Amino acid sequence: MISSSVTRPAQPPKTSAPGTLAIVPFVSVDNMMRLVLAIGVERFLVELAGYIEEDFKRWPLFDKTPRVASHSLEGVIELMPTSDGSLYGFKYVNGHPKNTRDGRQTVTAFGVLSDVGSGYPMLLSEMTILTALRTAATSAVAAKYLAPQDACCMALIGNGAQSEFQALAFRALLGTDKLRLYDIDLAASQRCAANLAGLGFDITICGSVQEAVEGAQIITTVTADKQYATILTDNMVGSGVHINAVGGDCPGKTELHRDILLRSGIFVEYTPQTRIEGEIQQLDADHPVTELWQVIADQAPGRTSAQQITLFDSVGFATEDFSALRYIRDQLAATGLYSELDLIADPDEPRDLFGMLLRMQGNIAAH
Ligand SMILES: NC(=O)c1ccc[n+]([C@@H]2O[C@H](COP(=O)([O-])OP(=O)(O)OC[C@H]3O[C@@H](n4cnc5c(N)ncnc54)[C@H](O)[C@@H]3O)[C@@H](O)[C@H]2O)c1
Repeated sequence: MISSSVTRPAQPPKTSAPGTLAIVPFVSVDNMMRLVLAIGVERFLVELAGYIEEDFKRWPLFDKTPRVASHSLEGVIELMPTSDGSLYGFKYVNGHPKNTRDGRQTVTAFGVLSDVGSGYPMLLSEMTILTALRTAATSAVAAKYLAPQDACCMALIGNGAQSEFQALAFRALLGTDKLRLYDIDLAASQRCAANLAGLGFDITICGSVQEAVEGAQIITTVTADKQYATILTDNMVGSGVHINAVGGDCPGKTELHRDILLRSGIFVEYTPQTRIEGEIQQLDADHPVTELWQVIADQAPGRTSAQQITLFDSVGFATEDFSALRYIRDQLAATGLYSELDLIADPDEPRDLFGMLLRMQGNIAAH
């Protein structure tokens, strides 16, 4: 006879609440969305850009290393650590261009901010949404220093997960309100246009990259493909434009034709990492580049003439995630948009970790 009763797993017994040292604030995807909406996306981007810029200004203070990448045929998983001496942060992030075919995202992430003094984590946060925000804010910060004066029109090539964030950051920081969209998948452009409808943009969906770049002073490439792609060819890039190249961010994954690089003033985040991952992997290892922090800290020129083509060869660097985590930490007290995670074992006597386990065993037996 088949029993109709369902066997449920035993409920864990109630035990005493974890102590305050055990608790780490956790920002879930749900709370991150509430936080962004409570602050307002554009205000969030502007404030976050301020934190990113502030940290670029104190660049020499940071521990810096190219991110630790584990490559596979399908994509990459990376760890991105840094520290300013009092806080430590890292992000776990993946990049899997084929993921969207089975309902997953190309990029997902989470991260931790810790106190260097004790080594204790102070914040655990989702960073998939936060990465899109910080990438867009960083792009807009770079463009603030490099794009032509009064740029009002941006070509946005690649209209996936990052695209609306890029559009909003450029408008919030530079006032760029004309968008020319192109994606090999028309549905992606249509979705991007629909998501941005009603937000005051003048949007044109284009049939080719060539058409999209016409009249644009800023060209953002944010496509996903694990190959040496040529999204932009040399003939498409006129003098004086600023290129914000976001999608080429892995060995063997680029978006621009090499000839464009040879005509451009190239600006990078952290040169040793960008030589491995950025568009400049196509160039000689000693090809001159300027680090963005030098421009922000007034130690190197940005755009030098109206005719110059400037290229921000973005790959995403750990300090930007650190800035983003710092920004989120600073919003927690006022908004309460986090939950408390029992993450750190906190025995009454710090050296009696095993005793804590034994007391738990006693609690379980008593219930
Ligand atoms: N530099 C950084 O800091 C940073 C941060 C996050 C993501 N990224 C990179 O940005 C890229 C986009 O990320 P996403 O999350 O938006 O990915 P996504 O998969 O959501 O969107 C990518 C879009 O690019 C389109 N596309 C692919 N090939 C194209 C082509 N040849 N021409 C035009 N469109 C094309 C796809 O149809 C898709 O709509 C990825 O390569 C990702 O690794 C970089």
